[in-house]
Amino acid sequence: MAKKVAVIGAGVSGLISLKCCVDEGLEPTCFERTEDIGGLWRFTENVEDGQASIYQSVITNTSKEMSCFSDFPMPEDFPNFLHNSKLLEYFRIFAQNFDLLKYIQFQTTVLSVKKRSDFASSGQWEVVTETKGREQRAVFDAVMVCSGHHIVPHIPLEAFPGMEKFKGQYFHSRQYKHPEGFEGKHILVIGLGNSASDIAVELSKKAAQVFMSTRHGSWVMSRISECGYPWDIVWHTRFRSMLQRVLPRTLQKWMMERQMNQWFDHENYGLEPQNRYLMKEPVVNDDLPSRILCGAIKVKSRVTELTETAAIFEDGTVEEDMDAIVFATGYTSSFPFLEDSLVKVEDNMVSLYKYVFPPQLEKSTLACIGLIQPLGSIFPTVELQARWVTRVFKGVCTLPSERTMMADISKRNKKRIDLFGESKSQMLQTHYIDYLDELALEIGAKPDLLALVLKDPQLAVKLYFGPCNSYQYRLAGPGQWEGARSAILTQKQRMLKPLKTRTVKSSLHFPVSFLLKILGLLAAVVAFFSQLQWF
Ligand SMILES: Cc1cc2nc3c(=O)[nH]c(=O)nc-3n(C[C@H](O)[C@H](O)[C@H](O)COP(=O)(O)OP(=O)(O)OC[C@H]3O[C@@H](n4cnc5c(N)ncnc54)[C@H](O)[C@@H]3O)c2cc1C
Ligand SMILES: *[C@@H]1O[C@H](CO)[C@@H](O)[C@H](O)[C@H]1NC(C)=O
Repeated sequence: MAKKVAVIGAGVSGLISLKCCVDEGLEPTCFERTEDIGGLWRFTENVEDGQASIYQSVITNTSKEMSCFSDFPMPEDFPNFLHNSKLLEYFRIFAQNFDLLKYIQFQTTVLSVKKRSDFASSGQWEVVTETKGREQRAVFDAVMVCSGHHIVPHIPLEAFPGMEKFKGQYFHSRQYKHPEGFEGKHILVIGLGNSASDIAVELSKKAAQVFMSTRHGSWVMSRISECGYPWDIVWHTRFRSMLQRVLPRTLQKWMMERQMNQWFDHENYGLEPQNRYLMKEPVVNDDLPSRILCGAIKVKSRVTELTETAAIFEDGTVEEDMDAIVFATGYTSSFPFLEDSLVKVEDNMVSLYKYVFPPQLEKSTLACIGLIQPLGSIFPTVELQARWVTRVFKGVCTLPSERTMMADISKRNKKRIDLFGESKSQMLQTHYIDYLDELALEIGAKPDLLALVLKDPQLAVKLYFGPCNSYQYRLAGPGQWEGARSAILTQKQRMLKPLKTRTVKSSLHFPVSFLLKILGLLAAVVAFFSQLQWF
């Protein structure tokens, strides 16, 4: 008999988990608190407790070719970075295409997930849900927790003495929806993450003055990279990932700094990361440096005290007449329906094997999907997590002993702290390609590059030097998709299609164009030398 799996939440993680269950012949039931799919990506005007909430202007910070699921490329004409409504449209087409909606029970909240008394032998769970005031119980063979971790706001009020005196308005970034109502105001945004930057930039177009307070600084990069390609297409290649592995860290840092400071000098803009030895997820924002250059945003250090109307900063400066404070200070993960001991988040670490499985269970029948912050897109990441988990549930993949898993967790945590630092906000931070490969290896879907070099050199070159997109994990092994190769070879086409809204004839051909290239090269060399600053 097919195993019954409870999937908690119908956001991105829930949807892909449903698909993977179906692919592996499991029998899923998904419980979703709201009346619709999409989770975080479904914008609503209201902020509801227990639900993620975004501002109206959210645009993805990972590009479409790097963010789609592995056997379902995004429509050709979709832009490379998507407005939240467009991304939601993709998830709707995805759910429809794989006929996933029929497994979802909407307006149903999971209240508790408990081991059954015979858990040690059966591995079964009792799940209690509530639909419109009515409670229900059901037994499941396995559970996938897909309830998201951008739900419970984190405001470290204790870090802001005098907060209780402050007479202005203050709120967490999840409360922010539009810039309307902030015309002519003085606003302080606390934090320098992606949301903080988006909100500061948007408000700076209406407000009298926006201040951004940051303790640690951050690298800020544009969505647009070399030759106008999306940043992640250029960044996330196996070649670069290999360089990162073999180059000494000091050299890596030096290269990273050089690259980051090419656009603008972070030190001059007050954004320079404090501990330059650590890796830090960059902020992706095209407008922030320009708003700083125009004086609409002023970057400040840590806030040490607040008064009725003013903010006092670490360097002793005071900014008066503050009307509002936005706390873009992140989130705390919380699983109110689980026993505390199941998913432990303490001592600055999540005790889950490869960020997925609680190691201490007698049977591996519970998994967390999406409790992670990769340096790249989360969508291919949660997909590989779900592919692995469903194969473990099915019994075709097995986990090592509890001891081995615990050892792996603490080793991984040490490595993470060494790379990303001890800050709480970095707790879920992982490398991108390394982690994807690791999961793919578990299920036998990691592409074999050496074999491909002989069999299909064209493809091998794309895999190694091209963007490491999700299609790479459908070339071989279980879940192989015959469209994968062609999806890899045609991705540039899909990337350029939405830009080709005006036909431009490419006029010049060899030998004129060749000559021009040589001239261009010469010009570039001259330009390079003339740009060097000798002071
Ligand atoms: C502003 C913002 C922008 C982002 N941009 C990007 C980006 O560009 N690229 C990227 O890769 N990542 C991005 N992320 C990361 C983000 O985590 C993922 O994009 C993703 O949406 C997470 O999906 P999820 O399904 O895990 O969680 P969610 O989207 O939060 O979905 C969880 C679902 O579970 C339901 N639920 C929760 N508890 C229960 C319960 N007890 N019972 C029943 N249902 C329940 C909720 O109603 C919800 O539908 C962004 C995050 C934020 C906050
Ligand atoms: C994109 O933005 C979200 C929200 O701030 C963040 O959690 C995620 O890590 C960012 N991704 C990248 C690759 O920068």
